[in-house]
Amino acid sequence: MSVKIGKNIDLGPFPLLLAPMEDVSDPPFRYVCKQNGVDLMYTEFISSEGLIRDAAKSRQKLDIFEYERPIGIQIFGSDIETMREATEIAAAAGPDLIDINYGCPVKNVACRGAGASLLQDIDKMVAMTKAVVDATSLPVTVKTRLGWDDQTKNVYEAAERLQDVGIEALSIHGRTRSQMYKGQADWSMIRDVKRNPRIRIPIFGNGDVDSVEKAAAWRMEYEVDGIMIGRASIGYPWIFREIKHFFQTGEYLPGPSLAERIEVCRTHLLKSIAWKGEKTGIFEMRRHYANYFKGIPHFKEYRMQLVSLQDVAAIEEVLAEISYDFVPSYP
Ligand SMILES: Cc1cc2nc3c(=O)[nH]c(=O)nc-3n(C[C@H](O)[C@H](O)[C@H](O)COP(=O)(O)O)c2cc1C
Repeated sequence: MSVKIGKNIDLGPFPLLLAPMEDVSDPPFRYVCKQNGVDLMYTEFISSEGLIRDAAKSRQKLDIFEYERPIGIQIFGSDIETMREATEIAAAAGPDLIDINYGCPVKNVACRGAGASLLQDIDKMVAMTKAVVDATSLPVTVKTRLGWDDQTKNVYEAAERLQDVGIEALSIHGRTRSQMYKGQADWSMIRDVKRNPRIRIPIFGNGDVDSVEKAAAWRMEYEVDGIMIGRASIGYPWIFREIKHFFQTGEYLPGPSLAERIEVCRTHLLKSIAWKGEKTGIFEMRRHYANYFKGIPHFKEYRMQLVSLQDVAAIEEVLAEISYDFVPSYP
């Protein structure tokens, strides 16, 4: 059965979502994930204050493209009125939905009353969400964590109340704020939320899915409506097509060949340059090379060149050199 967000966003059976990731899930990265079959993507989180101040950095993150649909714009903030105004600005950029971030644990977000800090004040979280829902005709979704810390795991209550004020889907990262990214994600509370007979919106599980096996096992064990993947897709957008293929056929797709890794990395680089300009595009691509070629023998030497070159033609030459001749045992 198809999973739907609101009346109009049909994600097909058991969708895979690309997690919003600051400095990662920008249009160039989203392009390569979309090519690999991801069903729903989000922008990086965008500061509501930045949007209403018209800050260039926040505004640039509103860039979305037709081929990316369905796509959500994610916003965060601590002030309800600012979030309401930011919703109007984000909606005017034409996304399919607006997502609110109540999960970000980092100090300069959570300690300023935004992101995961709203998990300490569910009344305010609900009021803020209602203001966002009322400010747009688009579906509104939420991404959050299990709670603030071990003593306040309140996502069960939050889910009911957020649904009551009109959210259309909920993604839950199976950690508390105080866990940050440490330890292992615990999906058992995500299942509790899903099993709550009052809950009728889709519940997406998030946290630590990094293989076909895990996706298949956790789908069964935790009964979620879909899975959101973040870190495992960085440098490995093929994870979406591999999981999808397994669900569709019950068979494992072979991993990407070296030639395909090179080609997709090159596409990512060219899209980066097209969207950010040559200098920034080349610079910001540097953090991705090691991920694209993880596990490849002798890659270190190439990497050193890739992260120091400043000219796209020279970078493309190095990418083309990463060949079977140098790593004969690699598929
Ligand atoms: C580099 C990075 C940036 C992130 N930025 C965001 C963000 O902007 N908004 C958000 O809701 N979560 C953000 N997250 C959290 C992820 O969306 C996700 O919840 C988390 O990484 C757990 O999923 P994973 O184990 O599949 O990576 C970020 C995570 C990482 C690693």
